[in-house]
Amino acid sequence: MLTNTGAESVENAIKIARQATKRSAVLCFTESFHGRTMMAMTLTSKIDYKLDCGPFAPEVYRLPFPNHYHYGIGMTEDDFAELQLQRLHDAAHNLVNPNNVAAIIIELVQGEGGFNIAPKRYIEGLREFCDEFGIMLIFDEVQTGFCRTGKWAASEHYGVTPDLSTWAKSLGSGLPIGAVIGKQEVMDAAAVGTIGGTFPGNPVCCAAAIATLNYMEGLDLNSRATNLSKIIGDRLLKLQKKVPIDWRYKKFGSDASHRVCRE
Ligand SMILES: Cc1ncc(COP(=O)(O)O)c(C=O)c1O
Repeated sequence: MLTNTGAESVENAIKIARQATKRSAVLCFTESFHGRTMMAMTLTSKIDYKLDCGPFAPEVYRLPFPNHYHYGIGMTEDDFAELQLQRLHDAAHNLVNPNNVAAIIIELVQGEGGFNIAPKRYIEGLREFCDEFGIMLIFDEVQTGFCRTGKWAASEHYGVTPDLSTWAKSLGSGLPIGAVIGKQEVMDAAAVGTIGGTFPGNPVCCAAAIATLNYMEGLDLNSRATNLSKIIGDRLLKLQKKVPIDWRYKKFGSDASHRVCRE
């Protein structure tokens, strides 16, 4: 399904998931950003984006994003992921009945929330949880899509297929075009008239999107992103070894950490 923006893609993915499951609840995560329309803003976690804009949409529940970098100190990524999956399963008893949940929406790499990467094991476990309870798994690829992570979709790094995914941003090189991609039986659940609009799929934006995709392919932007990430990643890892752990929490208490950060 074509849309005009990322937020519109998110709105429609939720509507499609609700129609496919005949359920209403949606699970989302802290530190997330999904856009500025009413459902997308409700799903967004960061308070600065929502100030005085409520009341927000009902039936939205939130779990802590599995942020190993910030909160998994001393734990391996896999152990941390298992602990967070335990929280997800506990939520089935004390947050929301999973049999009422239509969708779980997550950014595989959070953008506005601080470039936090979801652990692979967590996403695998999320897929298992969704399969167990008949929940639609939605990956918001609006920011991660189209070569940003060295792949067309960040989900390719995880080997996990979502039921629905949302796209926009780079797709039109600045012209407004987005998309919801989904499994056929899920997309077909949307009743005639419930999704769509005046401008989605207009020829100018579609031409821009096709030209953009060809350009990205021609320049092999996926390889470029992979090479850049190696150069930058190596440098940042060296820096990380030098900088005290307090740096992660922005506690600049000691002179030593100030000095190292400046260096
Ligand atoms: C992950 C994610 N989802 C949705 C959106 C909303 O996209 P748009 O600004 O095109 O509505 C954004 C925008 O930054 C985003 O990063």
